[in-house]
Amino acid sequence: MGNIFTAEARSNRGEAQRNLSEPLRNLCVSAVKDSFNTTCNSNSTLDFLPVKKLQLYKPTYPEICRPLKMPNKMKFNTKEKIKLSKRISSAAGSETPLRDLAGNLSQTARYALNEANTLEIEKVEIRLKRLPKNLEGFRVLHLSDIHHSPFTSLEHITRAIEIANNLKPDVCILTGDYVSHESEYIEPVAEVLGRLESEFGTFACLGNHDHWTDGEMVTDSLRKANITVLINEGFRFTAQDASFWLAGVDDYMVGKTDLRSALRGSFPDEMKLLLAHNPKILNRAARADVDLIFSGHTHGGQIKIRDEEKRILPRRKLRNGLYRRKNTQIYVTRGIGTVVLPVRYQCPPEISLIELRITD
Ligand SMILES: [Fe+2]
Repeated sequence: MGNIFTAEARSNRGEAQRNLSEPLRNLCVSAVKDSFNTTCNSNSTLDFLPVKKLQLYKPTYPEICRPLKMPNKMKFNTKEKIKLSKRISSAAGSETPLRDLAGNLSQTARYALNEANTLEIEKVEIRLKRLPKNLEGFRVLHLSDIHHSPFTSLEHITRAIEIANNLKPDVCILTGDYVSHESEYIEPVAEVLGRLESEFGTFACLGNHDHWTDGEMVTDSLRKANITVLINEGFRFTAQDASFWLAGVDDYMVGKTDLRSALRGSFPDEMKLLLAHNPKILNRAARADVDLIFSGHTHGGQIKIRDEEKRILPRRKLRNGLYRRKNTQIYVTRGIGTVVLPVRYQCPPEISLIELRITD
């Protein structure tokens, strides 16, 4: 795994999370404090003191959650009220938790906006049983979900292409969603994608957003830029005196996927690589004995609030990374662009460099 741009962003993210949790804590404490004050000021008895509510916070705030060993119906005198108030105030820390929270939320939003403009290189090794010996170490550059639009600038995409070219891949593949919904963004992005460099060229499939914008125009523009678009079709890819079947399916979400057509002409025993925008193809591809699928569509979730590493149960959804179903593996990239909001959080844009290796 490699990260050349976001080391600083990551440490800032950690700081943002810490800053965000502090005012939240203060808010909780403040709520408890208010509850105390209301009770005390009204000269009421301890019958109404929200002891249970206090104990709820006990693990985090031992100062104010110390069990109150006072008999019921006991009234506070002024001295005790001051003492209690001091204890709560010192625990509460800030008198303006809402203001702090708002400030830190806007800071987090700024990080999320910045993160959408970073780029991270993911280097992944995938082991395949049927990889021809001559192709040991074959390097595939994988980009997806470019989403050229007001959210994802041509500058950001150009930077991704420059980085991709510096990685010197053997072949480049693109797995759909080149634009979001405006057709004037199609030609410029196709022209920039046409600058990808590799020994064996660039191959692409279409995504749902391409169809929702103008599937025909996307296909024509990519082909004009010397990119081979595979729409439910495949061919025998020959490289370094070896060969395998390379195919691409049309998008699943718009109901145009035809895997059978894409694999027509392939030999039962040869290695099959498939380009498919939507990872939902996995089960069908496993039944068809595909070796490896390159996919996108999910954007890796785009915003990750929960820390995936701390999950007790692993996520079952295909979100990003490498998964397997029987003999079929799928690599789902987080993609380059954004949709809905121009933000990413704990889920930076990804340039994937996949190295194919023969399994032991
Ligand atoms: Fe997408």
